[in-house]
Amino acid sequence: MTLVVARDLWREYSQGGVAALAGVSVDIAQGEFVALLGRSGSGKSTLLNLLGGLDRPTRGSITVQGRDLATMSARELSLYRRSTVGFIFQSFNLVPTLPAWENVALPLVFQGIPREQRKRAALEMLDRVGLGARGHHRPSQMSGGEQQRVAIARALANRPQLLLCDEPTGNLDSNTSAQIMALIDDAHKAGAALVMVTHDPELARIHASRTIRMADGRIAEPVEVA
Ligand SMILES: Nc1ncnc2c1ncn2[C@@H]1O[C@H](COP(=O)(O)OP(=O)(O)OP(=O)(O)O)[C@@H](O)[C@H]1O
Ligand SMILES: [Mg+2]
Repeated sequence: MTLVVARDLWREYSQGGVAALAGVSVDIAQGEFVALLGRSGSGKSTLLNLLGGLDRPTRGSITVQGRDLATMSARELSLYRRSTVGFIFQSFNLVPTLPAWENVALPLVFQGIPREQRKRAALEMLDRVGLGARGHHRPSQMSGGEQQRVAIARALANRPQLLLCDEPTGNLDSNTSAQIMALIDDAHKAGAALVMVTHDPELARIHASRTIRMADGRIAEPVEVA
């Protein structure tokens, strides 16, 4: 079944008249693993942010499970992000003042789950990414790979249908990258649809079932890898 239907997406910036996206249409099936390749500035992050409801298109529609994000209010959009989407960024984006478990538990706060239950769930998620003993450490006390594992635990805490990853291993050495990719593969096996931005065609070939290449804000050539 189709999870995401994006049609003729444009994202134009008034600053310098840049069209970061210039008419992108793409479908993402439930449980699919799509890799997004393309040069710097080709619009990959822009597309990811639109799919995740972090940004709005200037034109076009994005329908997720039959609901058009472009017509949602800010409140509905934030509900969509919390209930349906998980984000993993290159730079981890953890809250520096909070210990690992509270970072992981953040998505659960908005679901109204009581603190003790959030803590239990967060520590369990951390255990699953191999950080069971690090729940009370702050991000500054952890290595890059550990921080990214915390970010993955957070992204998975609300069991997202759509997991969006923007160069998730871009800042990590190859051993640590392999660990992170194994966790991302696990999330995919558990049923999430994945869109992963990467500059590494090899990573795309190994992990994704489909590769989309972007150039100048458009989809250049859809390549079936399967
Ligand atoms: N706030 C903004 N104002 C103006 N132009 C922007 C803004 N954000 C992004 N752009 C432009 O939109 C285009 C696409 O940017 P985007 O971040 O999506 O590229 P990308 O493919 O993710 O690149 P990278 O691989 O370097 O992360 C770029 O030309 C960029 O300069
Ligand atoms: Mg980018």
